[in-house]
Amino acid sequence: MRLKNKKVILGISGSIAAYKTAFLTRLLVKAGAEVKIIMTPAATDFITPLTLSTLSKNPVYSNVSSEEGWNNHVELGLWADALVIAPATANTLAGMANGICNNMLLAVYLSARCPVFFAPAMDLDMWTHPATQANVAKLQEYGNHLIPVGDGELASGLVGAGRMAEPEDIVNMLADSWESETVTKDLAGKKALVTSGPTHEAIDPVRFIGNRSTGRMGVALAEELASRGAEVILVSGPTNIKASGEHITSISVKSAQDMYEACVQHFPEMDIAIMAAAVADYTPKTTSATKIKKKPGEMSIELKRTKDIAQQLGKLKKTGQVTVGFALETHDELKNARKKLTKKNFDFIVLNSLNDKGAGFQHNTNKITIVDKNGEQSYDLKSKEAVAKDIVDYLGKYVKP
Ligand code: CTP
Repeated sequence: MRLKNKKVILGISGSIAAYKTAFLTRLLVKAGAEVKIIMTPAATDFITPLTLSTLSKNPVYSNVSSEEGWNNHVELGLWADALVIAPATANTLAGMANGICNNMLLAVYLSARCPVFFAPAMDLDMWTHPATQANVAKLQEYGNHLIPVGDGELASGLVGAGRMAEPEDIVNMLADSWESETVTKDLAGKKALVTSGPTHEAIDPVRFIGNRSTGRMGVALAEELASRGAEVILVSGPTNIKASGEHITSISVKSAQDMYEACVQHFPEMDIAIMAAAVADYTPKTTSATKIKKKPGEMSIELKRTKDIAQQLGKLKKTGQVTVGFALETHDELKNARKKLTKKNFDFIVLNSLNDKGAGFQHNTNKITIVDKNGEQSYDLKSKEAVAKDIVDYLGKYVKP
C-alpha cells in the first residue's frame, strides 16, 4: 500500500545479484509503484534490459548516448520519489562516493533530489576492504540510505557477508521509509460510500446474468479514500478482489436490488458516494426456484428494468453530500456523459471511453475524463490506483472541509 503511486528508479550495476532485480521489479510494480530502470553497461551482462522493461512496463535506460539522450538524466533524477541502487557494486559505490559520472546511473545519482537507497553486493573480500567501507561510510554521511547486506544463509554460489539484501527486504525498507511520511488526511472525519464490481441477476439457482467488471476501480477508490482519512463503506457485487484497510467496511451483495437496498440504507449518513459499480440495467422478470431444464427448441428470458441506484441517491441527496458517477461510452462520449451528469444529479462524472486503448473493464489501467458543470478535464492512461488518486483529488473541489 505504502508504495502505491510512488515513482521509483531502480539502478542496477554489474553483479551476479542483478538476477534478483527481476523479482525486485515485480514486487515494486505489484505494490503499486511506477518503476523506471537504469542499468550500467556491465549490468546488461547479467540480466537483459528486455526482461526488465517487460516487468517494469517502461523502457530501460542503459546508455547515456542512446536515443533517450544525455539530457534525460536530469529529468529522471527529478521525476523519482526514490532512487534504489541494487545491486550496488564496489565500483558503483566508489563512483557514487567520489562524484564520478561515467555512466547514466551515476549521472542520475548525481542529479537526483530524492532519497537514495543502495544495496551493496560483492564478494566478502571486496566488501570488507577498507576502501569499500570508507565509500559506504561516505555515502551514508551524504544522506544516502544503506540497505544492509545479507549475512544469513548463503544463496548457492553467493558469498555471505557481501550478499545483496533480499528483494522483499528492500521493498519493506522502502515502504517503511514512506510510512513515516505523513499522507494528507484531507478527508478525515468524512464518510464515503463506494459501489463496486458487477451484479449477478439470478435466472435460477445455478445461472445468472453478469458482466465483466472486476471491481478493481472500486477497490482502488475505497483504499484511496481510506488512506486520506475517510471512513468507507464499500458495497461490492461478486468479485475476487478485496479491499484492505482498517477504515473500510465491505458489504457483499449479489443483485442490483441488493446493492440498491444497501446503498439507500447507508446513504443518509454519507458525505460522499462514488458509484463505480457496473450495475445490471435488466434482471430476469422471474427467478426460477429450481434449475431450469432444457427443452427442445428456442427459449427466451423476459427481463425487467432494475432500479437505478445512482439516480435514486441523486434524488435523496442533501446539501453538502457529493455524488460521483461513472460512464462507459463508445460513441458521443461527452454528450452522453453530460446527459447522465444531469439525469443522475452527480457533482461530477468519470468518463471512460472504450475507444481508448487500455481503458475499461478488463485492464489494470484506465484513461479518464472528468466532466462536471464547469467543463472537462482529461488525464493520461494510468493504473487504476493512480486514477483513483486523481478522482479523489478532484473531490477536493466539492467536499467542504
Ligand atoms: N448505475 C447505478 N445503478 C444502476 C445503473 C447504473 O447506480 N442501476 C450507476 C453506475 O454505477 C454508474 C452510472 O450509474 O455510476 C452509469 O450510468 P448508466 O446510465 O447506467 O450507464 P450505462 O448503463 O452505460 O447506461 P446506458 O445504457 O444508458 O449507456
